[in-house]
Formats: sequence, C-alpha cells, structure tokens
Amino acid sequence: MPSTTTSTLGVRPANFRFRCIGCGDSSESASQNFRCQHCGDLLEITYPRWKEAGSQDLKSMWRQRRLSQSAADQSGVWRFRDVLPALDSDDQAITLREGNTPLYELPRCARITGVPRLFAKHQGMNPTGSFKDAGMTVAATFARLAGFRWVACASTGNTSASMAAYAARGGMRSLVLVPEGKISWSKLSQALDYGAVTCQLRTDFDGCLRLLQELVLRAPVYQLNSINPFRLEGQKTLALELLEQLDWQPPDHIIVPGGNLGNSSAIGKALLEMRDLGLISRLPKLSVIQAEGANALVRTLREAAGKRLVSVQAETRATAIRIGNPASWKKAAHVLEATEGACEQVSEVEIALAKAEIGAEGIGCEPASAVTLAGLKKLVKQGFVKPEETAVLVLTGSLLKDPDFTMEFHRGDMFKGGVDAAKHAELEKLRRAPIVLDASLDAVIRTLEQAEK
Ligand code: F0G
Repeated sequence: MPSTTTSTLGVRPANFRFRCIGCGDSSESASQNFRCQHCGDLLEITYPRWKEAGSQDLKSMWRQRRLSQSAADQSGVWRFRDVLPALDSDDQAITLREGNTPLYELPRCARITGVPRLFAKHQGMNPTGSFKDAGMTVAATFARLAGFRWVACASTGNTSASMAAYAARGGMRSLVLVPEGKISWSKLSQALDYGAVTCQLRTDFDGCLRLLQELVLRAPVYQLNSINPFRLEGQKTLALELLEQLDWQPPDHIIVPGGNLGNSSAIGKALLEMRDLGLISRLPKLSVIQAEGANALVRTLREAAGKRLVSVQAETRATAIRIGNPASWKKAAHVLEATEGACEQVSEVEIALAKAEIGAEGIGCEPASAVTLAGLKKLVKQGFVKPEETAVLVLTGSLLKDPDFTMEFHRGDMFKGGVDAAKHAELEKLRRAPIVLDASLDAVIRTLEQAEK
C-alpha cells in the first residue's frame, strides 16, 4: 500500500506547523510515523503566527465558555482551542466532554508528606477513566479530518480504551496492539466494548509500538500513540485547566508519572507556552516519577546526562507504565531541564503504599498514578520539595482501571515475603481485606467492635 502524508489526505495546517525536535526542520505536513524526514526525530506542533493574544482576554474567554451549552465549549479541552491546532468549525471536534477534571485537596497525604498545600489533579475522572481522553479528542478529530477510516495504537491499556471510544464516536474503525497478559481486564474490556479490533501480541509494549511504527508506513492507518503530536496538544490542556483552577497562581511543583513520556512532555510544553503567552509569570518545577523496574528516563538522565536513551527491560506491577524504551524521552528531558524539575524512581512497595494512602482519601487512583505520591515523599526527604511549597500530583487513571492490583493488596497476597519489617507494618495499617461472615447480626456487631479498637 502506498505511504501517505497527513497533508495529502487533506489536513491543511492553518495555524500550526510540524517542527522536528532534533534538527528544527519545519514543515506543513507530517509523514505517517510522525518522524522527521531528514533526521528521524520526533515532531512537535508549533504556532508560528501565534499572535500575542492578550492573556487577560484569553482567561476571561475561557471562563465565559464554561457557561455555554455548545459541545466544544463543554469540553475541557476544546474550551482552550485558542492554543490548539485550529478547526474550520467547532462541530468538527469529536468530543465526549473530556477534561473538566477536579482538583482535590489531599489533607491526609499532606500530613504524611509534611507538605500542607498538596493537591491532586484527577485525570482519572475523564470519560474513559484516564488522562488519555484529553489528547485523544484532538488527535482523533484530526485523523477524521485527514480522511482516515482506521486509527491504531500500541498500548498498555488506557490509550487503547480511549482511542477505541473516540474512534467509535467519530465513526472510524480502530486497531489496538497490546502486550498479551500484561494489561488489566478493565482496560481491555473497554477497547472490546467500544468496538476495536484488539490484538494481544506476544511481546511487551515496546514490541507493540515498534510494530505499529512499521505498520503505519505500510497501511493507511493513522497512529494515535503519543508520538502523534496532536495527542500532546490536547494533553496540554491539563496544565491550562489546572492553572485556571489555581486562579493562575503557579504551584511550585507538578509531579507526574512517566511511562512513554508523552504526558510529561505535553504538560511541560503547556507550561512554557503559558509563560510565553503571559498567562503565568513563573514556571512550576515539573518532576517525573518512574517505577524502579521501568526507569529508562531516570537512567538516561543519571548515566547519559540526558544525551542518549538508556532503555531497560521493563517490569512493574504498575502495568500502565511498564515501558522500557520511551518514545518521547527527548521531549521529556527537555521540559525537565527547562522547568528545573527532578526525575525519581520508586519501588513496588512504595507504589502500593502510596496507592492505598490516596485511596484512603476517598478518591483512589490506579497504581501508575500513585508513583506521584511515592515520588513526592522522596523529593521531600531530599529537600527538593519544601514544606511551605505547593505541590500538585497528576493522578492519571481511575482506581477502577486495575481492580486486581487493589484486591491483591488488600487481601495480603502482594509482597509475600521480601518486605522489611517497617514497610510491612505500614502496609498492614492500610490493608482492608474483605471479611467473610455468617449472615448473623452478632457476627457483624463483633466485626464492628473489632474495627473500632
Ligand atoms: N499513568 C497511566 C494511568 C497511564 O496509562 C500511562 C501511560 C502513564 C501514566 C504514563 O504516561 O506514557 O505519557 O508517560 N499509558 C500508555 C497507554 C502508555 O498505552 O495507555 P506517559
């Protein structure tokens, strides 16, 4: 099958261009694998004619749109369309009213970490239960505008759930490549229900992504991984919405999990653009936290000073970030440097503990999101985050995304042996195993009295 470019299929970039992050080459069209034709590096979207829109005008327009009943205005992504690739008309957007996610205070976790001004931006409250929806609404919209019938992704689960939903809403077919056995049933079942053709490949995420990169050069399918720069433009709005919720007073720290490193890149891009547009006067430090078993960025920064990727054979129970060869490592390294953020890794026990602590706040999240709290504890110990500072954890997925992890933790089936006594005591304090009883009032009252002790 012939290879195609987005421009030949009809996208006419009006307000944006594709720029290579390696050689800086700028172009109106992108090849199917969203890599530079000259040097093979990733592309990003830039806005050369971004006129200096008045920052106060933008802020009041975005606020005003919240009162509107139009679909684009009700989307927490398209509401910020002035800083996104332009559509000819708002009704071209494929939207499930994504974004609009809450910013919660975390009083319990604040006490645990010793950082009183601690918040969670809960992206798990999106339509398909993860932050991917914010990027998918933009990228799926541009896939349809470019005339594609098929969209495709490699995924650890959330991208596929989100892509399948937006493809279905937009009348497109979707092809999902996931690693066999290393993806939660919740996520897989979403993709099936939304009608995706779902292939479980006998490889890991990195193998799935490699194969997809070859596929898009051979078949007329549009790739919706975060290599696709339209995804990152949508995911930028997380930061805009967060700053709006904080009345445009930047927090000192934003802490985000790192897997394929698209989300950290998107948030960092948003922060730099907000500063350039005069929407904020100083940059928060953006920090990325990885699982110890999937710590490619940590090693890239420590062992290669961010100059070349140190890939790893990834292994972690936080399957969403079980990625050893992150595609957007260079973009993430850049925004970490630009915002002076940190990069840390946390152990499996630390992740499980943090997840239960966030759950005990009554909001919950999936394991990959909990690395943020575990990472914050480390950054406080190192003196990088100070008690008087404001920190925001980006919770990327819903608790319901991985019930097996939660059940195993509370039943005490996780970490059998191999945990030191101090950690074991901390874990035990948080465990709430289900209690099987005879259906008698006495038994329930005895249980209540026991729990009260
Ligand atoms: N948190 C969750 C819940 C995720 O699903 C992912 C990535 C991340 C964090 C990491 O974000 O890749 O932008 O650094 N999930 C992808 C997927 C890879 O296929 O669903 P990232």
